[in-house]
Amino acid sequence: MKFSSAAIYASVILNLASAQPIILGKKDAKASADLWRDQSIYQIVTDRFARTDGSTSASCDVSKREYCGGSFQGIIDKLDYIQGMGFTAIWISPVVEQIPDKTEYGYGYHGYWMKNIYTINDNFGTADELKKLSEELHDRGMKLMVDIVTNHYGAAGDGPSIDYSIYTPFNEQKYFHDYCLITDYENQALVEECWETSTLPDLKTEDNEVLSVFESWVKDFVSNYTIDGLRVDSAKHMDTSFYQPFTEAAGVFLLGEVFDGDSAYTCPYQDYIAGVSNYPLYYPVLRFFQNSKSTSGELLEMIDNIKLKCNDVTLLGNFVENHDIIRLGSTIKDKALIKNAIAFTILGDGIPIIYYGQEQGLLGAEDPENREALWLAGYDTDSAYYKFISKLNQARNQAANKDNSYPSTVSSIIYSDDHTIATKKANLVAIFTNVGASASPSVTLSQSGFQKGDQVVDLLTCSSTTVGDSGLEVTMALGVPKVYASSSVASGIC
Ligand SMILES: *[C@@H]1O[C@H](CO)[C@@H](O)[C@H](O)[C@H]1NC(C)=O
Repeated sequence: MKFSSAAIYASVILNLASAQPIILGKKDAKASADLWRDQSIYQIVTDRFARTDGSTSASCDVSKREYCGGSFQGIIDKLDYIQGMGFTAIWISPVVEQIPDKTEYGYGYHGYWMKNIYTINDNFGTADELKKLSEELHDRGMKLMVDIVTNHYGAAGDGPSIDYSIYTPFNEQKYFHDYCLITDYENQALVEECWETSTLPDLKTEDNEVLSVFESWVKDFVSNYTIDGLRVDSAKHMDTSFYQPFTEAAGVFLLGEVFDGDSAYTCPYQDYIAGVSNYPLYYPVLRFFQNSKSTSGELLEMIDNIKLKCNDVTLLGNFVENHDIIRLGSTIKDKALIKNAIAFTILGDGIPIIYYGQEQGLLGAEDPENREALWLAGYDTDSAYYKFISKLNQARNQAANKDNSYPSTVSSIIYSDDHTIATKKANLVAIFTNVGASASPSVTLSQSGFQKGDQVVDLLTCSSTTVGDSGLEVTMALGVPKVYASSSVASGIC
């Protein structure tokens, strides 16, 4: 059932796409942003997701930071697994050729150490296999987002000893900033002009020649592989004047990584990049759902704050796990709390991004532990989180299917106490709590928008209830979140 509703939703997206064909240019970049607002993204580290041989036993010692054998073909073979969870798009780690060396930090299996931006990293397969992945996604009505790095290259040596002649096309020192480390992250000039580490030669993104190479590169890159969106690594380290011409050349939606929890710092990047990773929300979300003793004040304040400071909260990329941060299971033992954090990610304002492996409850903490080989966990479609994520995506997809303003509607907080937050976003009412699995709080929602006597349905359990005199009475059994819709929105999935 979840499958057919994903298919219905996919056809809506397809129609949208054909009504607004993506041609390169400013107007179409906006159409592409509109397209991405509707997506739910599954983030993949290609090397760690699935192997071409389908092996579920091939070893992968994350601490060695080596290639473990994941591939484009591996992803193609697992698209049912991804789509079965209701995702409409994937974001894959960078695909271009990396420096081949073993460095102090291992190999470039993650893709952030570029050597040549015109060739595909053959550890993952061929250019044709990447094209095939793109085609297979599009045949399903799904979208492809590819991670790119325009801020730096990778190096085996460090600092002043780097041999620039090995790079394509930036094969001279003149394209890079002189070596200096970012010694003060409060100093934006240093953040943009110095190097993140001594092995990441930092490109002069303010240089016209560098920009113009990237403009023609991105145009070809997007067109060669029919890419629908780009995730831009290290976005806060680049010159902001880079983005407008680059976005126009790309002609697709950009989601920039601005790794900073301060909304006053991060939100203004939406002046340059349509989509921005929602680090400001991440930290309060983690703190709230990490501990049943935390209270909601900080999170509520940040929700308001982001609405004020960001241009468009519905284009922020929401996440609670990724390749740079700890997995929830490494710090939260109570599965009810993890479920609430995941539900908050998928049903909040913004584009949900779920990191591969969350659906199997992987436990890795910091990089490199959080980059596990998924095949070792199997691809269990009966796992509790797999089914839970499917239900959440199904609820979101169904909400948008019944009311296409859902993704662009900014939610309102209709109830809060120290441990519970309820939101109304278009046709869905969602309730989250951090009490944990040992409690079952009851609340009455008087501002749900539903009328007395209405039959409403919890989309996660398909149980219905009638709205009472004082509103929608909800008991969050065992601390698990709830998502309510009218019976007409629920029909077809419940
Ligand atoms: C795009 O494809 C052409 C033809 O195969 C190739 O020459 C070019 O390098 C490719 N560009 C990129 C950015 O992938």
